[in-house]
Amino acid sequence: MSMNKWPDSFDFQGFNEPIGEEWSAQNLDVEGSIPAEINGAFFRAGADPAFYPTVEKDTYLSGDGVVSRFLIQNGKVDFALKYVNTARHQAEVAAGHALFGAYHNPYTDDPSVAGVDRTTANTTPIWHAGRLFLSKEDGHSYEVNPHTLETIGSWTYGGKLRTLTTSAHPRFDPETGEMFIHGYEASGPASKDVALCVIDRNGNVVSEEWFEAPYCAMLHDFVLTKNWALFPIFPTIADLDRMKAGGPAWVHHQDLPSWVAIMPRYGKGSEVRWVKGPNGLSGYHMMNGYEEEKDGTTLLHIDQNVMETNIFPFVREASGIDASPADIRAALVRWTIDLNNLDAGWVETPLGPPGDMSRTALKDQARPYEIGYYACYDPEVGPPITHSVVGAGFNTLIRVNVQNGEITALPLGPDRSINEPVHIPSQEAGHEGWLAAVVDTHSTMTSELWFIEAGDPGKGAIAKVKLGRRLRPQIHGTWVEKDDLDKSIHQ
Ligand SMILES: [Fe+2]
Repeated sequence: MSMNKWPDSFDFQGFNEPIGEEWSAQNLDVEGSIPAEINGAFFRAGADPAFYPTVEKDTYLSGDGVVSRFLIQNGKVDFALKYVNTARHQAEVAAGHALFGAYHNPYTDDPSVAGVDRTTANTTPIWHAGRLFLSKEDGHSYEVNPHTLETIGSWTYGGKLRTLTTSAHPRFDPETGEMFIHGYEASGPASKDVALCVIDRNGNVVSEEWFEAPYCAMLHDFVLTKNWALFPIFPTIADLDRMKAGGPAWVHHQDLPSWVAIMPRYGKGSEVRWVKGPNGLSGYHMMNGYEEEKDGTTLLHIDQNVMETNIFPFVREASGIDASPADIRAALVRWTIDLNNLDAGWVETPLGPPGDMSRTALKDQARPYEIGYYACYDPEVGPPITHSVVGAGFNTLIRVNVQNGEITALPLGPDRSINEPVHIPSQEAGHEGWLAAVVDTHSTMTSELWFIEAGDPGKGAIAKVKLGRRLRPQIHGTWVEKDDLDKSIHQ
């Protein structure tokens, strides 16, 4: 049975209150001016439940996928937002109410939708080989027409994928144009099978290799280096019996170790080697990875936000862990692994203040790099404020030089929260490009799109696009240049 109101939790309050409307607007007001070189589309994925949930303890992450696009052409900006018309959304619209149950637990669904694809495709827009996909991690991605935002359908590379899931965090090699995408629970709910699929620059599946993880972890992201795929694995674990009994899918285990799986990026699942680390850690997003030849050995670097426990309140509650989001350390750190001494574990080096949603320029992925960007909550800027999937908004944008430790910050004040930035490259030699991010103002409940000099975020927005209304906070976004958009498969 559906509820008759939204659950009484931060997931549905303030900026997180569901909106439930497809809309568009042309030629939005712009304060300042958008550099002439910026032409393209900023695609955003979000969650917005169309119906009251069937369970009181529902989460933000369960919401129906919505895809939105800021289209920037010659300094003018249009906006559009639509639902991703998944099988799940279609079934619930036909019924007129929610049918799918608790987060990530198909055993809590209405029997009428048994076997129906329950992914919401609400996490990341992925652009590859001229196609736009909306992804999550509990099914296959959905293809969406980048011009109309109409949903085309579930995308399985013509049925060539064996894995039942592909994630919301593919990694790209900017030189080869390849996309590497993993899937966990590759053979079904709570399975320990992990798949790594290599997709060539033309969108063909080149390989799909599986390995078995020590437990069924919520394996959200990974990094690529020149020769390796590195999977940090944290003990937030699904259990089939618990799920079948209607319990929570995800429980965090403070007493179990973390691991890194090291796989040759073009190798076999059977070639995976393991490095064991401390108990109880958690992490979701990786900034980048690269390898370094030093003193006769190979060092593997993974730059990421790591926490001492799970960041999601619904996971901590299910796990009996008492901690408030503002108290959880989520510092940007580097894990360094000596490929010739895996028994030594990894060495952790701090890189920057607490935060998440880290990004780099695409050209820097999987190779030695200097600059990353991410969103941070700085208590000196303001008290915690309800916003986004973990319940506390980010109030500061950070640029970090991971080689020399230089940090540049753009504090937004106590009334604003920033969503994940995307990087927009410049063709001008020596120019670091720009960042675009949606910034939400709580006192007016309105959202704006800010353009910021990537090399100098401290000087603030150089242009602000006014929406005049609220957007539900984004999960992830992707920038697509106009030239690439023009070459899309669908017109
Ligand atoms: Fe993510």
